[in-house]
Amino acid sequence: ETGCFTYDNGFTATASCRSAITYIDGDAGVLLYRGYPIEQLAEMSSFLEVAYLLMNGELPTKDEFSKFEHEVTHHTMMHEAFRTFLYGFRHDAHPMAMLTGMLGSLASFYHNDLDIEDPEQRRLAAIRLIAKIPTIAAACYRYSIGWPIRYPRNNLEYTTRFLHMMKEVPSEPLELSPVAAKAMDLLFILHADHEQNASTSTVRLVGSTGANPYVSVAAGVAALWGPAHGGANEAVLKMLGEIGKPENVGAAVAKAKDKESGFRLMGFGHRVYKNFDPRAKIIRAMCHQVLSELGVNDPLLEVAMRLEEAALKDEYFIQRKLYPNVDFYSGIIYKALGIPVEMFTVMFAIARTAGWVSHWLEQQNDPENKISRPRQIYTGAATRDYVGFDKR
Ligand code: SDX
Repeated sequence: ETGCFTYDNGFTATASCRSAITYIDGDAGVLLYRGYPIEQLAEMSSFLEVAYLLMNGELPTKDEFSKFEHEVTHHTMMHEAFRTFLYGFRHDAHPMAMLTGMLGSLASFYHNDLDIEDPEQRRLAAIRLIAKIPTIAAACYRYSIGWPIRYPRNNLEYTTRFLHMMKEVPSEPLELSPVAAKAMDLLFILHADHEQNASTSTVRLVGSTGANPYVSVAAGVAALWGPAHGGANEAVLKMLGEIGKPENVGAAVAKAKDKESGFRLMGFGHRVYKNFDPRAKIIRAMCHQVLSELGVNDPLLEVAMRLEEAALKDEYFIQRKLYPNVDFYSGIIYKALGIPVEMFTVMFAIARTAGWVSHWLEQQNDPENKISRPRQIYTGAATRDYVGFDKR
C-alpha cells in the first residue's frame, strides 16, 4: 500500500502508478491478468479474449466478444499510403526499426482527427493498434525480404491471420498447422502484459504527457527492443547457437559467473521474479509439445535444457535467484514455427500491444492522471561559483 518496493540488491523503488490490470508476486511466481491466473488463461482462453479482458477488466460475454472481434477485424487494413512510408526504409533495416517508424507514421495518419478527450475515440485508437500491429509487422518483414505485402484475410482468426500475412510465399497458399496457430496464440497470451515492465512504463510515461497513443506505443516498441528486455528472445537463440553443443554448457555457465566477461545467460534472471517465471514453466512444457508434434528435432533445445539444468544447480545462480524467464524457451518455439530470428522481438511487440493500449487507456481514463515525472538521488557537486578561464 505504501508503494515502496525493495529489490534483492537493496535497491528500493516507489510505485510509478496505480493499476488494476496485472498483478505479479515475484517471490511466489504469481501472474494474474485482471485477477485471472495466467495458467488458466493459457489453457482456456485465446489471445483476442485476453486482449478484451486486459482492456475492459472483465471476461466478455459471447456477444461482447463477437462485437470486439468484429471491430478488430474491421480495422486490420493498412491504408495504401503506408506503402510510401514503408518503402522509405532501407530494405535491410531490422523489422523492429521499421515497426517503430511505421507506428510513428500511424500517428501522423490519425493524429489530426483524434480527439484524445473523447473516450470513444480513445477506445477506437486502442482497437486500431491491436488490429493493425500484426498487419504492419508482417508488411515490415515481407518488405525486408523483398516479398510483396499480403493483405489481412479477415475470415481467419487473429493469430492465424498474422501468420498468413507473414509467411505466405508469393507463389503458393500457406498450409498452416493448427499446432503452429495454437502455439503462437498461447505465446501471445503469455506476452500480452506484465505490470510496469520497462516498455509498459515507457508507454505510460509518454502517454502521461498527452502524446497520442500511436507514438506512445512506438516508444514502447523502442524500449522493448533492448536485449535486457524484449530483445532477450533473439539474444537467447544467438547465445544457444554460440554455445552450440551440450558439452559447451559448463563453459558458458562459468563465463556467466565471471563478471569480467560481461557475459550473461540470456533468458535468465528477472527484475521482479526471484522464483520461476510462471510463463517460463508454461512455455517450457509447450516447447517440448510443439517440437514433438511438428516433428522438429532442434539440437538447440537440448543445449537449452542442459544449460537450464546446469544453472539451476549452480550456487551462483541459486544465491542470486536467477531462473529462466519468459524469453528462455520462446525463441526455440518461434524457430520451430518457422519465424525468423529477426522477428522474435516483433512477436513480443504484437502481443504486448494489448497490454500497452490497456495501460494507456487506464491512464487516460483516470481523472487524476498527471504527467509522470520520476525524481532522482542527486550525486553531483554541491553549489559552487562560476570561475573564468584564467582561474580554471
Ligand atoms: C523481460 O520487467 C519485466 O516484466 C520484463 C518482462 C516482461 O514480460 O515485460 O518479463 C520481459 O524483459 C524478461 C527479461 C529478459 N532479459 C534477459 O533475459 C536478459 C538477461 N537477464 C539480465 O540481464 C537480468 O537478469 C535482468 C535485466 C533481466 C534483471 O536484472 P536485475 O534483476 O536487475 O538483476 P541485476 O542486474 O541486479 O543482477 C543481480 C545479480 C548480479 O550479480 P551481482 O552483482 O549480485 O554479483 O545477478 C547477476 C548480476 O550480475 N545476473 C546474472 C544474470 N542476470 C543477473 N548473471 C548471469 N546471467 C544473467 N542472466
